[in-house]
Amino acid sequence: MKNKKSKKTDTSGFTASISFDRRLAPYDIEGSIAHCKMLVKCKIISKSEGDKILKGLREIEEEISKEKFKFLPQDEDIHMAVERRLIEKTGESGGRLHTARSRNDQVSLDMRMYLRDEIKKISALIENLQDSIVKSSERNMEVIMPGFTHLQHAQPVLFSHHLMAYFFMLKRDRERFADCLKRVNVLPLDAGALAGTSSSIDREFVARQLGFSSISENSIDTVSDRDFVIEFLSVGAMLMMHFSRLAEELVIWSSPEFSFIEMDEDFCTGSSIMPQKKNPDVAELIRGKTGRIYGNLQSLLTVMKGLPLSYNRDMQEDKERLFDTVDTLKNVLTVLSPLISSLKLNSKRMLSLAKEGYANATDAADYLVKKGVPFRKAHRLIRDIVLYSMGRGKSLEELSVKELKVFSPLFSEDFFDVINIKRCVESRKSQGGTAPEKVKNQIKKSKVKEKQE
Ligand code: ARG
Repeated sequence: MKNKKSKKTDTSGFTASISFDRRLAPYDIEGSIAHCKMLVKCKIISKSEGDKILKGLREIEEEISKEKFKFLPQDEDIHMAVERRLIEKTGESGGRLHTARSRNDQVSLDMRMYLRDEIKKISALIENLQDSIVKSSERNMEVIMPGFTHLQHAQPVLFSHHLMAYFFMLKRDRERFADCLKRVNVLPLDAGALAGTSSSIDREFVARQLGFSSISENSIDTVSDRDFVIEFLSVGAMLMMHFSRLAEELVIWSSPEFSFIEMDEDFCTGSSIMPQKKNPDVAELIRGKTGRIYGNLQSLLTVMKGLPLSYNRDMQEDKERLFDTVDTLKNVLTVLSPLISSLKLNSKRMLSLAKEGYANATDAADYLVKKGVPFRKAHRLIRDIVLYSMGRGKSLEELSVKELKVFSPLFSEDFFDVINIKRCVESRKSQGGTAPEKVKNQIKKSKVKEKQE
């Protein structure tokens, strides 16, 4: 065989994460500053070398924030880019910074610090949205709409009651994020590559510097673990599911068939060919973006499935999933709040539909129950009356007492007060019910700020 020249394949572009992990730079540097101070404190490096490193790191921080930092093709990831620049600036001293740590614990540190900040931002944005929901509920306390089950008219409810349902979903979402934060806020640094380090380090000191509330217990678990990312993606998926249900309702409600609401033009677009159209694009896109949020969760679960301990490079695939979910949730929250605030309600239409479809049939049955008829029997009687009315194209209100008495002698004039749509709403006074005073209670409760981390 002729001597075939072996061609080297350049895989650096394939393995690099710098194009997306550079957003971790501020955390990478803050983490390195704390690590450096610890190395000095524990006399692993000298004070003067430590000072040189700290000065260098602060300069790099400034270069990056002012977009003056020059990333080089050989900078595989953010950790190597910062270290490369530090060594350029400080020579041998910079080379000592990596004592007692590895990129495996460093990357987990950066991700945890980043996520800690983002969870707080997302939680504040959810609170904003909750605020828009409460304000709209307060403004529209008079509005009655048909409540639905199976997307069929079920019972009349206050619009505010319906909207406040979302408030409570979001409250649980915030609780879940706060809980997730507890497991994010654990210091992984100085677990080393996987086995710990032989240097006498002080992880408590690093944790205090960086505001971590606890320290990881097992160095192998520390560098293997992406549960905290998966948990966040999962909590985010649940939040997005809530957004998607709300978006879907906005789409349906704004259709000409429903005409319950009108969305502000800012949140709609026209059609390029049909001049009469006003499309609810923003709500549709919120619904549509749920796909990527679920996908991100599914994707990382799959990346992690079957990985042997400890660190494996596969785990670098966590970042784009995480960043995309963070960005998408923030984008959605930023548009959803003003969208809710700007909703215009067609209260006449809602009321007239609430009156249709025998939405007061349960109240009619309750009327008989209060007169001593067992509920099951009352239910049957009213069903017969509804069928009778349907056959005559009448609503329950349009029946005469005489007609009603054919079904039961218990009917009298007071029946019409009970099945009056406003009365139907007002009578549902059980806790959490749709009676105005109970909905006001929910609103009042929503204003009691619960303590969240
Ligand atoms: N860029 C890597 C990641 O995101 C950092 C850790 C690399 N560690 C290693 N031993 N190659 O996961």
